[in-house]
Amino acid sequence: LKKTVVDAIEEYEDFPKPGIKFLDIFSVYRSKPAHEAFSLLLERYAVSVKNSIDAVVGLDSRGFLIGPLIARTIGKPFVPIRKKGKLPGPCHTVKYSLEYGTAEMEIQTTALQKNANVLVVDDLLATGGTLEAACKLIKSCECNVFTCWVAIELVALEGRKLVSSPVESLLQL
Ligand code: PRP
Ligand code: MG
Repeated sequence: LKKTVVDAIEEYEDFPKPGIKFLDIFSVYRSKPAHEAFSLLLERYAVSVKNSIDAVVGLDSRGFLIGPLIARTIGKPFVPIRKKGKLPGPCHTVKYSLEYGTAEMEIQTTALQKNANVLVVDDLLATGGTLEAACKLIKSCECNVFTCWVAIELVALEGRKLVSSPVESLLQL
């Protein structure tokens, strides 16, 4: 199943900036067999963590492809972390650095119950800045990060070193 997914991932050199290799998760969704294989792998993973987590948090925007399927499979809530200015109501905010400049992300203050064990999901781990910022937001909600799960880990960038919570990846590229 993993090979079916990997074979469908399209790579673009120098996007969105020179020197950056972009791996396009949407190419998986365009291929019927890869979409099916990926969904099965997500469902399997979901079942394996069902008894350890209370909620699934997905990161804007490509984490929204993954989080709701995992949450739905095991009947847990799905909560978004979004780029600043997109979520209504009171929010916790965190600044983080990207390969290019800084950005801010938010979570609604009442979206997670206090002391929840949270699974954080995203498509890709590169420098780790995004995942670490998400972990900070979850701690702001007085919750615990059970694990950060990504579909693709760019191992050479050693992003997991920046993340203070456990990290699991489906594909190491
Ligand atoms: C990409 C990717 C991850 C993040 C990884 O998102 O989807 O979320 O970068 O990078 P890092 O490990 O170096 O922090 P991006 O910010 O481009 O936004 P998008 O998901 O909305 O496309
Ligand atoms: Mg992203």
